[in-house]
Amino acid sequence: MSELLDLAISVAREGAELAARRRTEPVTIAATKSSPVDVVTAVDREVEALIRARIAEARPGDGFLGEESYADSGSTGLTWVVDPIDGTVNFLYGLPLYAVSVAVVEGGTDPTSWTALAGCVVNAASGEVYAAERGQGATLDGTPISVSDPASLSTSLMVTGFGYDAAVRAEQGAAAARLLPRIRDLRRSGTCAIDLCWVAAGHADGYWERGVHSWDFAAGAIIAQEAGATVSITAAPSGELRVIASAPAIADDLAAALDAAGAWPEG
Ligand code: IPD
Repeated sequence: MSELLDLAISVAREGAELAARRRTEPVTIAATKSSPVDVVTAVDREVEALIRARIAEARPGDGFLGEESYADSGSTGLTWVVDPIDGTVNFLYGLPLYAVSVAVVEGGTDPTSWTALAGCVVNAASGEVYAAERGQGATLDGTPISVSDPASLSTSLMVTGFGYDAAVRAEQGAAAARLLPRIRDLRRSGTCAIDLCWVAAGHADGYWERGVHSWDFAAGAIIAQEAGATVSITAAPSGELRVIASAPAIADDLAAALDAAGAWPEG
């Protein structure tokens, strides 16, 4: 295992242990962000500060891009992309499905052009560790994982997520409703990082979402890719990011069905 993956796993694990420990105490909202339902807790900030400090100790020249603190471009060409708690609303409600997501990328901070080198997602409540390194495959708790091989889109289980802006969520819900008759069923976990890991492990056949942030999917996308998924990360004209990840067997049909369902209103 490379030094980068080793560090990604160790800081993600340490962050997840801290988050899970804090979940045994009362959790309160520290602030709201893009909308009144887009919250940050003190624990998000504490976990990010811990991970940031650990990475700075181990690799002082690397850049950092995290959900809850300022970005730093660094001097080595490598950037750590961190979501301290992906699934913050689950965490707030005590739903045992929230993740620490840590990736290291090269080539800048634009996810449509960077190259992800390694990533780790820890499901903090269960302790499951999903990890991947470029060209080396993906693992769950150290055991190799791979995507499913669904017979058709109509028998595929999909996962998706919804944004914090009410108008966007209404569009997302309408698109999901149009896709539903064309698939087996739909799940909404509340964490993009876990959604992508579920695709990687074959617990879902595909995932799509618009309006996600790079820290939500940086680690999950390389894990899905290394598990054999077809992954597409693109930006709409407005800059809004779109992610699709699926078993290769349904990738073309899913892309066409999402277009037909109006999943990307900007075109
Ligand atoms: C959110 C989760 C959710 C997705 C949202 C994200 P957060 O991230 O990944 O599943 O649907 O788009 O913003 O706020 O919990 O870090």
